Amino acid sequence: MIVVGNLKMYMAYNDILKYKDNIPDDVIVCPSSLFVPYFLNHNYQVGVQDVSMYDLGSHTGEISAIQAKQMGVSYTLIGHSERRDKETDEEINKKILKALENNLKVILCIGENKDEDKEDKLKYQLLNDLKGINDLSNIIIAYEPIWCIGTGITPTNAQIEDTINFIQSIIQNNFNECVKVLYGGSVDKNNIDTLKKIDNVAGFLIGKASTDCDHLKEIVDSLR
Ligand code: 13P
Repeated sequence: MIVVGNLKMYMAYNDILKYKDNIPDDVIVCPSSLFVPYFLNHNYQVGVQDVSMYDLGSHTGEISAIQAKQMGVSYTLIGHSERRDKETDEEINKKILKALENNLKVILCIGENKDEDKEDKLKYQLLNDLKGINDLSNIIIAYEPIWCIGTGITPTNAQIEDTINFIQSIIQNNFNECVKVLYGGSVDKNNIDTLKKIDNVAGFLIGKASTDCDHLKEIVDSLR
């Protein structure tokens, strides 16, 4: 099972120093870009939380896929719902292309709001975000229903399983490929034993619970 920790902007420097040496092996950890160098050269992999749709140039505050790759980063999240109000699907598509061009693996986050038609929304995001991409072998999809992020609420296992089947069918029908699909949204040590029973889930994208190494370790141990 793939375990990804999205540290968001939760941790300050002092927390990072305590945290970085105690992360379980094999997880993919996505810290604030500022702290990436502290996370390199461990037995886990490092991702950034976003990349620019540009290479290098006059883009204040942005981080490019070229820069991330050269620093030793191997993954990037793209399209997280906490960023999607600041970017279009066309821009997300350009970011994915830039990441792949620079040999970063992409974790594309998709998900619906409670008041949206789930299938319409997910189909729209997948077709627009992945437009023109012929090889999906370096793309993982993370299904993160927005109403479950940070709320302590998760869909039922049956709902998640159906949604992952739906995502895989869209990918199969439009790209003729298989993709791994993660679930994210309020995953923690209390619900992991239930969530891991979902047949078609390839792993989990974890926010708040991943910021505590002991908590993260309990989740990883449950999946081993
Ligand atoms: P929480 O696990 O804190 O709900 O966050 C999920 C998430 O947004 C991971 O990208």
